[in-house]
Amino acid sequence: MTLKKLIFSEAQIQARVKELGSKITSEYKDGQLVVLGILNGAFIFMSDLVRAIDLPLEIDFVRASSYDDATVSSGEIRFSKDVEISLAGKDVLVVEDIVDTGRTLSFLMQVLKGHQPKSVKICSLIDKKERREEDVVVDYVGFVVQEGFLIGYGLDCAQHYRNLPAIYHLHKTE
Ligand code: IMP
Ligand code: MG
Repeated sequence: MTLKKLIFSEAQIQARVKELGSKITSEYKDGQLVVLGILNGAFIFMSDLVRAIDLPLEIDFVRASSYDDATVSSGEIRFSKDVEISLAGKDVLVVEDIVDTGRTLSFLMQVLKGHQPKSVKICSLIDKKERREEDVVVDYVGFVVQEGFLIGYGLDCAQHYRNLPAIYHLHKTE
């Protein structure tokens, strides 16, 4: 059986996304902004975030996966969809749902250097501290959590729960 406990309500998330959008709007006034989402988890957060950014911008996605159908990391990172637009000379804002070990973002940051962007920053809805292995700087953080497995608002467990409008802690019981 699974139990879920509310961690961030829909209203809390929407308010925080608007704050992040305003901050990003004020910090990227001059330049060519590309918002680069990491599929699948970031798709809901990114769709709200880009509508809270009042600037001309381009969007693209990469698809990375470090998790299989389980709540534990398989340890392996794969990119099965690469960047499709030119990033050269542009300000890239990587959008992630949750930073856990940091391996996905650390790998992506290395890959992005090869695209000669003007700058690369990271915006993650959640910064989960407990299992961090790689030293990644998350420039814009929605919420910090210490631990636990979260679902909802794009976050999944074996591809389920992404459509929940709020974020919950998932507990598995026997
Ligand atoms: P990292 O490479 O360990 O930082 O993994 C980040 C990815 O793992 C995220 O983009 C999520 O897809 C997934 N992930 C990590 N923690 C959670 C969680 O609590 N719930 C759902 N997905 C998670
Ligand atoms: Mg993800």
